[in-house]
Amino acid sequence: MAANLLGKIARLARSLHASRARPDDAFAARFLQGGEGVVYLAMDPRDREHACRVARTLLTVRPDAPPHLVAAALLHDCGKSTRPYRVAERVLAGLVPMRFAARLPVGFVQVRARHARLGASMLQAVNARPEVIRLVERHHTPDDGDARLLHDLDDLE
Ligand SMILES: [Fe+2]
Ligand SMILES: [Fe+2]
Repeated sequence: MAANLLGKIARLARSLHASRARPDDAFAARFLQGGEGVVYLAMDPRDREHACRVARTLLTVRPDAPPHLVAAALLHDCGKSTRPYRVAERVLAGLVPMRFAARLPVGFVQVRARHARLGASMLQAVNARPEVIRLVERHHTPDDGDARLLHDLDDLE
């Protein structure tokens, strides 16, 4: 519990500057196809670092995870790149429960509320794999075991 909290504080401190993020883009590239890689690289380095952590945890708990599931872990928050990364906005948006966020007419809260759908649209536009698109769209509203696993691993962050 304390280690978890310390981890969160360390990540928050690192999130103040994009230059402090250390996404493992070479690791990510092994699982991304065509336009998926372009969408991944358009993400803020802090979101890429988070995504790589989720993908690595996925491979730890499920070493036989299919490549499309790892790709979805890497891309699950790509919809957030529709808005520049601002630390204060991210912290504030995180305080608003998802079920209320959709009704709050504030740009950054809306992006958080809609990022799964936005991400799915971005991936559709680059002809990403259908399973990757589906998992990204469902990562906050899981409708099967794989989407649920993504959701749970994301929640550990
Ligand atoms: Fe998300
Ligand atoms: Fe996430």
